Amino acid sequence: MKKKVLRFLKDNTDRYYSGTKISEKLGVSRTAVWKIINKLRKSGYKIDSVSSKGYKLVSGYKDLNEEELSLIIEKYDFLDKSFYYKSIDSTNDFLKRKSDEFQNKNLLCISDIQKKGKGRLGRNWQSENGLYMSYLLRPVINPLDATLFTQIGAAAVVKTFNKLTDLEVKIKWPNDIVVNHKKICGILTEMDAELNQLNYLILGIGINLNNKKFSGELKEKATSYYLEKGKNLNKKTFLETFLKYLNNLLKDYLENGNINASLEICKKYSNVISKKVRLVNKNSERIVKVIDINEKGQLVVLNKKDEKEIIFTGEISIRGLNKKYI
Ligand code: BTN
Repeated sequence: MKKKVLRFLKDNTDRYYSGTKISEKLGVSRTAVWKIINKLRKSGYKIDSVSSKGYKLVSGYKDLNEEELSLIIEKYDFLDKSFYYKSIDSTNDFLKRKSDEFQNKNLLCISDIQKKGKGRLGRNWQSENGLYMSYLLRPVINPLDATLFTQIGAAAVVKTFNKLTDLEVKIKWPNDIVVNHKKICGILTEMDAELNQLNYLILGIGINLNNKKFSGELKEKATSYYLEKGKNLNKKTFLETFLKYLNNLLKDYLENGNINASLEICKKYSNVISKKVRLVNKNSERIVKVIDINEKGQLVVLNKKDEKEIIFTGEISIRGLNKKYI
């Protein structure tokens, strides 16, 4: 109901509407309209009221909240329902818990803080003052192709940074977005699948937007928009821009079977192609030269015998030479 009233006020900022008019248009009681308007005011919306004329929205809510988020996703067919939290354990884990309750639905969860944010390879993801979002999607694809969604997500993140900022962002295959050799975004794609059938995948994206500091070893490895530019970037603006790109790239892949648009972006902004890097896994590491990303989103490298090898995301991390992060 709150959402209905908010949408009405947002769509009708041209003049004042009386409580009676609003209640007639929306099919709710006048008292309900009045209560909702008071609630909206409490949550930060500026709603002007003039006796004998009615109500008018003067200025909206600049940040994200539950209603704003659900109004934003209405524009996108690929999302059915959203969840917004001030604090949660992990947006990926939250959606896993919701997957049965919302069968056949695509979901988005965003939280201001994650108490147990998860990174790749069991790492922890420091989650304060960034944009932490997870998308539960149910594409009809071979489970082996689920990793392509990491590339789609990375491509949409890069396009968003390019549109909104002058940061020089690069993609460190498969799932890191870096600026000045430091990580500004990480992507964790998880899935629930049987051998030939994907039940759902969760594309979890953490953007370091307004983080003021990082602790431990991340001090050297991570950065944020704030740390690079000395000012904040609005989360809602980032999300709205990101969703436009994500929607287009997803459509390209899921409706037209075309992954090239995403992969072209990943290649254009790759900071590993044409470079020698260290491939690190649990027990060993070796140096290879990266030559390409193939149509499956896998890394094509030359080993020390100059033979071509295909690298799957799996348990591998990439590091620069001389022990550098990249
Ligand atoms: C990585 O670089 O290792 C991946 C980091 C992924 C972090 C995001 S934040 C939103 C979503 N929820 C999580 O718990 N992790 C992902």
